[in-house]
Amino acid sequence: MSTSDAEFELLNKKIPILLHMERKLSLLLMVCLLTGISATTYDEFTYNGFQRSELYLDGVAEITPNGLLRLTNATRNQQGHGFHKVPLHLKNTSDGNVYTFSTCFVFAVLPEYSDVGGDGLALVLSPTRGLPGALPKQYLGLFNSTNNGNSSNHVLAIELDTVYNREFGDIDSNHVGIDINGLRSKDAAPASYFTEKIGKFNNLSLTSEEPMQVWIDYSNPEKQLNVTISPISVPKPSRPLLSSSINLSSVILDTMYTGFSSSPGSILTSHYVLGWSFKMNGQAPALNMSSLPSLPLKKHRSKLTSLIVWLSLGVVVFITITASSIAYIIRRKARYAEVLEEWELENRTHRFSYKELFKATKGFPEKNLLGVGGFGRVYKGELPTSKTEIAVKRISHDSKQGTREFVGEIASSSELRHRNLVHLLGYSRRKGEVLLVYEFMPNGSLDKRLYDANMPTTLSWSQRLKIIRGVASGLLYLHEDWEQIVVHRDIKASNVLLDSEMNGKLGDFGLSKLYDHGSDPQITHVVGTFGYIAPELTKTGRATTSTDVFAFGVFILEVVCGRRPIMQQESLDLHLVDWVRRSWRNGVIPEVIDARLGGDYHLGEVEMILKIGLLCSNPVPAARPTMRQVMQFLDGHLSLPQVPNDGRGITISSPELAEELEESEVSLVNCSIHRQRANPLEGF
Ligand SMILES: *[C@@H]1O[C@H](CO)[C@@H](O)[C@H](O)[C@H]1NC(C)=O
Ligand SMILES: *[C@@H]1O[C@H](CO)[C@@H](O)[C@H](O)[C@H]1NC(C)=O
Ligand SMILES: *[C@@H]1O[C@H](CO)[C@@H](O)[C@H](O)[C@H]1NC(C)=O
Ligand SMILES: *[C@@H]1O[C@H](CO)[C@@H](O)[C@H](O)[C@H]1NC(C)=O
Ligand SMILES: *[C@@H]1O[C@H](CO)[C@@H](O)[C@H](O)[C@H]1NC(C)=O
Repeated sequence: MSTSDAEFELLNKKIPILLHMERKLSLLLMVCLLTGISATTYDEFTYNGFQRSELYLDGVAEITPNGLLRLTNATRNQQGHGFHKVPLHLKNTSDGNVYTFSTCFVFAVLPEYSDVGGDGLALVLSPTRGLPGALPKQYLGLFNSTNNGNSSNHVLAIELDTVYNREFGDIDSNHVGIDINGLRSKDAAPASYFTEKIGKFNNLSLTSEEPMQVWIDYSNPEKQLNVTISPISVPKPSRPLLSSSINLSSVILDTMYTGFSSSPGSILTSHYVLGWSFKMNGQAPALNMSSLPSLPLKKHRSKLTSLIVWLSLGVVVFITITASSIAYIIRRKARYAEVLEEWELENRTHRFSYKELFKATKGFPEKNLLGVGGFGRVYKGELPTSKTEIAVKRISHDSKQGTREFVGEIASSSELRHRNLVHLLGYSRRKGEVLLVYEFMPNGSLDKRLYDANMPTTLSWSQRLKIIRGVASGLLYLHEDWEQIVVHRDIKASNVLLDSEMNGKLGDFGLSKLYDHGSDPQITHVVGTFGYIAPELTKTGRATTSTDVFAFGVFILEVVCGRRPIMQQESLDLHLVDWVRRSWRNGVIPEVIDARLGGDYHLGEVEMILKIGLLCSNPVPAARPTMRQVMQFLDGHLSLPQVPNDGRGITISSPELAEELEESEVSLVNCSIHRQRANPLEGF
């Protein structure tokens, strides 16, 4: 046999084997393709309660023993995420189209205060499980200030938003929105559901504490995203709340995770998800309402059932109603009467009913009086349903045309949120009276701690330093970090309140404007408190951030020295600022420091604070630092200028200003200005 014969024979044997292998391979490929498609396009899951679920949780999120997904639990400024662990293949890799998908879930928002909720929750599709780097509060645990709106986020969120955030163009404080890569919703509508019978949308309160169902349906051929919401007792409405034309191809990546995100912000709220289902290329399976876990009972929920019992009993009692009880009802009506005008309905600040506040304070008795300030009397109370402690300030306000503006101001100050500002929870209005509801500050006002001899313990140096830093940071927020410049106009120790951890919080911002509205325009009041008023303010009557800085300077000297801004010495008024400046000049600094500290302080720190105090309370406005600079001094990021020894005060650029200084350093004490009551309890 020749070599070529042998080769031919070998080849002949190989061919069938090769052919066989080829067939096997293509079969394998086909099986792969088929199983591949079915695995990626028919993903589906259903959770009627989350007891046996495989969720990836982070933040404060947890599964309660009865199977609720609790995203947040009434802890301030937290966030929680709960994600389905398995990724979804949402995109057809061959043509880049996003598959049709559908999901539905049942959620509930349980706020601590009757119906003020913070900040909301969202269903999310995101490239990662959880959302690293996201911020709480208005960012809903979805984004942060740097990546908000960036198209490389690849995040689709359906938000159930219960706080009005002007910065994101929110429509109100109770809406459903479609968010793509950022919090400025592509499409949004007030929470409501369509009722076939009346052919209209019915409003829905997201914070009603009742479970509600949401359906989210995306159709690939139509490139349409529908969002529908309704109470769980109502079947899926025939018309969606939102129906938005969106091509999700550029938002959705091949592999995405789905889950929930929530943040309660600074208003204590718990967010729950009771059940959830998801399906690719089809309708999400319906949830079984009867097997969903039940929500924790709230005190007034159980009250409702007892109310029904009482009501049926009441029918019997009603027959025996006498004329005297009718008279009683009339009296009662007058007692709880309040004023509500149409324009207030569009207002987003929470409005308490007068009756609610009357009950909360047990009828405003003397024993609940926390203090009497320049603006009105302040009472302690407790909201009956949530047991939240509050402080209610009653302000008499008769002016008719000023009220709307005033309430507008209240509304904008309730949007100011900072840990060193006393939080305004809402308001109420009666004839000739406005009531403001604030969070309660257990440790009262700072001036009481500084001056009240009955206080068992005095504030330590480190506590005082913390309070000064806190107030500085709150004031910086008002001046520079909010969307508008807010001038406080009345910085003083009695307007600084202390929380349970002795953090200082500024109260009463914006209220000084009350004097501007409603009063006779011919008379210009100098608003502020005697001793804290910058010299130029008495001339121009214009409050500025710089006049605030002056008052802040006086305030911090007050905290270090433990003395009021105007000291009585041998029947002469002496300004605290002048006294500290003189001691500084004479090099006798320890003399001015509050003796109650018992020498227990860090002299270097005290000197720094006194220096800042003198800088701020400089009579020349241009020589005062800004609050940003003050913060940098306090943080040691900016070194303090030297104190010149001629004692003419410390200035940032003293040579040019020396002359002006010479003129302006007239004694403030001699200025005859409208003196306001400076009550020690004026804080709230
Ligand atoms: C909320 O959860 C956090 C962390 O799990 C816990 O420390 C806190 O006590 C909880 N708060 C409430 C009100 O349940
Ligand atoms: C968006 O995010 C990407 C990646 O983090 C970053 O490179 C880019 O600069 C961001 N774009 C904008 C406009 O911030
Ligand atoms: C429903 O709410 C919207 C926006 O909050 C409001 O404009 C509308 O008047 C409300 N409708 C009813 C029937 O209350
Ligand atoms: C969205 O809603 C519109 C209007 O009701 C409807 O025509 C469309 O079929 C809906 N699309 C999906 C995906 O449900
Ligand atoms: C959707 O967007 C993708 C990618 O941006 C594009 O290729 C596709 O043509 C778009 N489809 C439609 C219907 O606009």
